[in-house]
Amino acid sequence: SAHQWQAPLPTDSRGPCPGLNTLANHGFLPRNGSNITIPIVLAAIKAGFNHEPTSLMRTAGKLGLLTTDNPDHFALEELALHGTIEHDASFSRSDLAIGDNIHFNATVFATLKNSNPGVDYYNITSAAQVMVQRLAEDSLINPNLTNTIKEFSARVGESGLYLGVIGNITTGVAPKKFVQIFFEQERLPLEEGWHRSDVPIDDDNFNKLTNAITQAVTEWAPSGPIVCPWVRLQ
Ligand code: HEM
Ligand code: MG
Repeated sequence: SAHQWQAPLPTDSRGPCPGLNTLANHGFLPRNGSNITIPIVLAAIKAGFNHEPTSLMRTAGKLGLLTTDNPDHFALEELALHGTIEHDASFSRSDLAIGDNIHFNATVFATLKNSNPGVDYYNITSAAQVMVQRLAEDSLINPNLTNTIKEFSARVGESGLYLGVIGNITTGVAPKKFVQIFFEQERLPLEEGWHRSDVPIDDDNFNKLTNAITQAVTEWAPSGPIVCPWVRLQ
């Protein structure tokens, strides 16, 4: 069918975002990963994830356009421009300074994958622990990693996305199996029983979830080079 998963061709553009890569692999975004406009992204997140065109998603789309020289469209790989949205201490990608900030990296992902031992789900507490642990381990191999309030907020938002989009937006509980298929294969775990959220994901329920994740982070302080946090033109 139109939204069957298909592995990307070598010529297709894929980038640092597992959410958008997955939408492209299912044909909710252009399968070649190119010529993506803000209206195309907003329609795709609704169709694939029941995610409303929230302020976060509209802002992400606008920041996406800052990664390209094109006036109104981008390709998924362009989103890897370091410092615009792409940041250090990701959950499934390495840092640009270490080498590859675009492709899935199983060694990096092991921290999230092995979190919340003994049960078969990730939750708000484990997501907060993963954020702390990723920063601690990444600081050892990239002592100059950029870690301002902007990167912190991005990691909180991305945690909310894997818990709320792949799991449950109200409880923040996500089956490990679904999250692992999402990151490792960039596939929607439909055959395994996943379906998109019944509840539309909107500013209200998403902000509740991300506020709870922020509260659960036990320790965080900015570190690394002093940079203007919000908009960085390359
Ligand atoms: C990263 C999910 C929409 C751009 C991420 C990450 C997740 C995620 C879980 C963290 C990956 C990691 O840390 O390894 C999603 C979902 C979306 C969505 C489920 C839709 C509901 C978007 C949009 C944009 C975007 C609209 C921009 C147009 C990025 C970029 C990163 C990223 C550039 C890399 C940040 C980093 O360095 O980790 N996304 N995302 N995403 N996302 Fe998305
Ligand atoms: Mg990154």
